[in-house]
Amino acid sequence: PDVRPLVAGNWKMNGTRDSLDQIKAIAQGVMIPLSEKVETLICPPATLLYVSTALATDSPLAIGGQDCHQAQSGAHTGDISADMIADCFGTYVIVGHSERRIDHAETDHMIRGKAQAAYQADLTAIVCVGETGEERDAYQTLDILKRQLSGSLPEEATAENTVIAYEPVWAIGTGLTPTAKDVEIAHAFIRSELVHRFGDEGKGMRILYGGSVKPGNARELLAVDNVDGALIGGASLKATDFLAIYGTY
Ligand code: G3H
Repeated sequence: PDVRPLVAGNWKMNGTRDSLDQIKAIAQGVMIPLSEKVETLICPPATLLYVSTALATDSPLAIGGQDCHQAQSGAHTGDISADMIADCFGTYVIVGHSERRIDHAETDHMIRGKAQAAYQADLTAIVCVGETGEERDAYQTLDILKRQLSGSLPEEATAENTVIAYEPVWAIGTGLTPTAKDVEIAHAFIRSELVHRFGDEGKGMRILYGGSVKPGNARELLAVDNVDGALIGGASLKATDFLAIYGTY
């Protein structure tokens, strides 16, 4: 099926009110005919969520959260829920980013619960998977992807409520990227796992590539089979870089 690619930015723990100029510039920059073909999303830190959606109101730019708790409310100091993201007019949430898996010891089981919480709040979950450098060197990449996909994706996942992001951990923030061939192999494997488990829904689920995507390498990476967009960290902080990557479509 024809999928509408998604170019998504993850600001991680970056951005203060000063950065809202960048949200504004991105929201304005995506208001061209291309936005009918390509969807865009920025996930700012939670502190900027509400004001970001306000700035993007008249733009096709979507705004999302970077994580959510499995529960919608309760005694969980410091966490935010999918309902809270939806309440700020966010429409997406990233779950299972490797920085959450590593820094906060998140397991596949927890991530599956977070994706379910996202569905309950009518958010689209971006479920992240990817091998570490050590796992790659040990030729375990596909085993890791298989395990993370089967553990992190709920039964209720559909092409509409779920996006997969393949992010090799060793490529994040390092300037290193896999070869186009390696990306093709990983994405084809993810696609086959999705189709095996979800049938036609799996054919329509978007699979993003993430890890050191920059204006200079975006064209090559985004042209790879089964790459349906990008999840961009560092290069999404500057509107000109983000828009240059978007503009490669
Ligand atoms: O979520 C985004 C990724 O972790 C990629 O980050 O583009 O800074 O390498 P990066």
